[in-house]
Amino acid sequence: MSRNRPDHPSPGEILVTAAEIDDIVARLGQEISRDYAGRHPVLISLLKGGVVFLADLIRHLTIPHHIEFMRVSSYDSTQSSGVVRIVSDLDTSIEGRDVLLIEDVVDTGTTLAYIVDMLRLRNPGSLEVCALLRKRVTSRQAGIPIRYLGHEISDTFVVGYGLDHDENYRNLPFIAALAPGAIR
Ligand code: IMP
Ligand code: MG
Repeated sequence: MSRNRPDHPSPGEILVTAAEIDDIVARLGQEISRDYAGRHPVLISLLKGGVVFLADLIRHLTIPHHIEFMRVSSYDSTQSSGVVRIVSDLDTSIEGRDVLLIEDVVDTGTTLAYIVDMLRLRNPGSLEVCALLRKRVTSRQAGIPIRYLGHEISDTFVVGYGLDHDENYRNLPFIAALAPGAIR
C-alpha cells in the first residue's frame, strides 16, 4: 500500500517513499528480533524525531522489550549546533540491560557520539545503535558504529516520518528533501 497521498504535498523531492520505509522498518525489526532472541532489550528513542520510527519498528519486533525516551537537542532549525543538550533524561536504570539506541537520522554523528558515551558510563550489559537514516558524509562520522542501518541518503536536510523543520512536517508518511522556498 502506498501512502504517498496527494493530500500530503511534498516540500521537495521524495527521497524515501512510504512503501520503501515500510520495507526498511520491517527488515530492521526482523534483524533485531533475530539478534536479540532470548533477551529482553530496552529500546531508547530520541525525542522527538525518532518517535514515528520507534512506533513502527516495535510492531515488527517479535521479542519482549521495553521502550524508553530521552530528549536531546543539538539542532537549530537546519544546522547542527555541535553542542548536545539533554533536555529530558531516562528515568530508569539501564545497568546490565541490553540497550538499543534508536536514532532517526545520523548527520554529523555528534548526537550519537555524545549519547553513546553517556550511556556507556551507566554500565549497560550491551549497547548498540539502530538508525533509520545516515547521511553520506563518512568523513564527519568517523568512529560511530551503527549496528542496524535503515538507509543512506545524500547530504541534504530532510523532513517527514517524524523529522521536522522548526517542528513542521513530522506527519509526512515519506521522507523528502526540503526545497528552498518550500519552508512553512
Ligand atoms: P547530528 O548530531 O549532526 O548527527 O544530528 C543528529 C540529529 O539532528 C538528529 O537526531 C535529528 O534530530 C537532527 N537532524 C539531523 N539531520 C536532520 C535532517 O536532515 N532533518 C531533520 N532533523 C535532522
Ligand atoms: Mg533525533
